[in-house]
Amino acid sequence: MIYIAPSLLAADFANLESCVKRVTDAGANYLHLDVMDGAFVPNISFGPPVIASLRRHSKLIFDVHLMINDPIRYIRDFVKAGADIITVHLESCADPLPVLRSIREMEVRCGLAISPATPVERIIPYLPEINMALVMTVVPGFGGQAMIPETLDKVRVIRRHIIAKGLKLDIEVDGGLKPENVGLATAAGANIIVAGSSIFQAKRPRAVISSMRTAAEEHPFQG
Ligand code: DX5
Ligand code: ZN
Repeated sequence: MIYIAPSLLAADFANLESCVKRVTDAGANYLHLDVMDGAFVPNISFGPPVIASLRRHSKLIFDVHLMINDPIRYIRDFVKAGADIITVHLESCADPLPVLRSIREMEVRCGLAISPATPVERIIPYLPEINMALVMTVVPGFGGQAMIPETLDKVRVIRRHIIAKGLKLDIEVDGGLKPENVGLATAAGANIIVAGSSIFQAKRPRAVISSMRTAAEEHPFQG
């Protein structure tokens, strides 16, 4: 099953409720929420209060992507705000294991992300500990960038490892994804597709989401 996760970063921040309703009606599965602290990445977005406010208006799965230093400080706040999945960056934690454990202990799904400069070998040891591996397909910090095709090699390595070891986790890709390149990501083994600008800035988001699903069905994992 392929899950489509529109990224709120590309929404009109003056009209968040209606933007979320629009992508929900268009067939989104998840709502991807990019939290940025101006330190781990050179941009600032929003935090728990915005997520808590949206939680009262949405039944989508809230997929919270923390681009913040020392994320362990804030896990409880994001759980309270209504996160269903919390993803932290491998590069942002001195030791990821206690952070992943604290997410799991609060009974939300736990994800680990790697930026384009991080070799795939660094995430492999953590795969048995997580529900989702997030492979960044752009340098984190801003929406609207072009997807870096070489990052998909990491998706392929992770998917092969999951199959070889009989693990059970999702692979999410994030950055620069649109109907034209979603097939490359799913053929590499991704099954959760984050898309900000291509969905939120579309006149007909339903058509974009359904072309993404078609592209995914036509390009399954190729081994
Ligand atoms: C980038 C964020 C992405 C971003 C995706 O740091 O993690 O989720 O909003 O936006 P697009 O799809 O516009 O690249
Ligand atoms: Zn993201």
